[in-house]
This record gives sequence, structure tokens and C-alpha cells, in this order.
Amino acid sequence: MPPVSSYLFNHLCMILFECLSLINLLCADTRETAFVNAVVAAGVTYTVTQACSSGHLLQCTCDKTMKGLSADGQWEWGGCADNVQHGYKKSREFMDAKYRKRSDLKTQVMLHNNEAGRLSVKNFMRTECKCHGLSGSCTLRTCWRKLPLFRDVATRLKEKFDGAAKVIPGNDGKTIIPEVATIKPPGREDLIYSEESPDFCNPDRVTGSLGTAGRVCNSTSPGVEGCELLCCGRGYETRTTKTRVNCHCRFKWCCEVTCKVCTVKKHVNTCR
Ligand SMILES: *[C@@H]1O[C@H](CO)[C@@H](O)[C@H](O)[C@H]1NC(C)=O
Repeated sequence: MPPVSSYLFNHLCMILFECLSLINLLCADTRETAFVNAVVAAGVTYTVTQACSSGHLLQCTCDKTMKGLSADGQWEWGGCADNVQHGYKKSREFMDAKYRKRSDLKTQVMLHNNEAGRLSVKNFMRTECKCHGLSGSCTLRTCWRKLPLFRDVATRLKEKFDGAAKVIPGNDGKTIIPEVATIKPPGREDLIYSEESPDFCNPDRVTGSLGTAGRVCNSTSPGVEGCELLCCGRGYETRTTKTRVNCHCRFKWCCEVTCKVCTVKKHVNTCR
């Protein structure tokens, strides 16, 4: 598996590429933009933190601030703790610094979502431990703070995307408030937006929507990836693809593995 940093790099490149082709979409202030901003801010926090721990950066190392015995006296702080404070700070500098002086609605929304992305990493650090002692007897246990899995960060942000709150400028012109006064004001970890999403069903140059024609969908899923919703009622086409894979593998003593080649048929649905 490639390291997360290269995965993230590819991910960022993909976002950048999409940004160039979908500039209008990302310069809007929709729920989708909120998610992209938060994921990028979380990704920068994550990557910088990881680079600190692996010794790839000169400016930072493991976090050594947690020392001594744990609060319950059961184990000791030790090992290489992920330095999320540094990752958080660098992400803030990199993503927010040049917008800090502006106070228009779009900028405020963006800064809020960047922060939500960073907090989805920083507030969910895990504690990982290791046993020492003869044959793992665990007479001494050391623990350190470790980054959450990025998959869990992304899942959390997807949940925030689903529950994002629409906001409007407050009367003082400085604060932002929920459009619907009855809902709970969004917290620091929540995502916010100020413009409704365009209709993503059909291509639209002005909004930057590519439309969903040609998208791969799942004919049995009731969710957003299901053909019913994704194809916006236009229906879908089914193609059968054949791929050759190794199968009926046998282990021959010693040491050889022989396989047959099987053809697997797969049905791929694409939206009309
Ligand atoms: C399609 O959706 C069904 C129901 O949600 C799910 O069980 C199945 O794994 C999905 N298929 C693929 C290829 O994702």
C-alpha cells in the first residue's frame, strides 16, 4: 500500500484538477464546497503531522510533551507521539492566513469549514500502547497519542456534510447565524454553507455541474449511488465486462503455487 502522503498527494492533485475544470462549482459556497474545503484542511493537518513523526521535516519531531505516569498510574507516556499541534498550526497558516483579514460571508464560511476539517483530526487523536517485559508480560506499558485513521476522519466529515447548516449574515454584519432560527447553531466541528447546490443531474457550464450521464451506478442500492437517484430518473445501461483472474490455486510442496485462469463476468451499470 502506498503511504498516506502519496495517497493524499494524488487526492489533492485530483481536487486541484477538478478545481480547474469546475472552478465555478468550487468558488460557490455550497455544501459540496464546504466538504472539499474541510477535507483539504484535514488532509494538510494529517500529512504534516505524519511527516513530523516520520522525520521528514526539519521543523518538527514527535510530540514529547506528554511525560511520566498516566493519570490512573497504569502506564507511562512514551514512544513517538504524533505532533498534531504542529500539523494543525501549519494547516492554519497554509490554508487560512491570507483570508484572515477579510470578513465577507464567503470567507467566514470557508474559514469555519477549514477549522472544522482540522478539528476532525485534532479532536479525535487515539491512544496507542505497547507492552514491554519478558515475552510480552506487560510489566511495563507505554502509550502515545496517534492520529485517527484518515478513513474515519473522512467518514466523520461526510456525516457533517449530510448535516451541514445553511447560514446567513447576522445583523451586526460580522457574525454568521443559521438561516432557520429554530435549528441548533452550528458548532466548531460542523460544516456550514450559504448557497443552495446546483442541480447536479444535468451538465451546466455556469454552475460547473458535469451531469451524471455515464456515471457508474448500483442498480440495487437505495442510496445516492443507486441508479434510481444518481441517474435522475433517466434510466441506465448495463454492460457485461469479463476480467481474467487467478483461481483454483493450489499449493505444491515445496514451494510452488499453481493456478488456473478463470473469467469472471461483471455487470456494470452506467447512467443514460
Ligand atoms: C450495491 O448495493 C447493494 C445494496 O446497498 C450492496 O449490497 C452491494 O454491495 C452494492 N454493490 C456494489 C458493487 O457496490
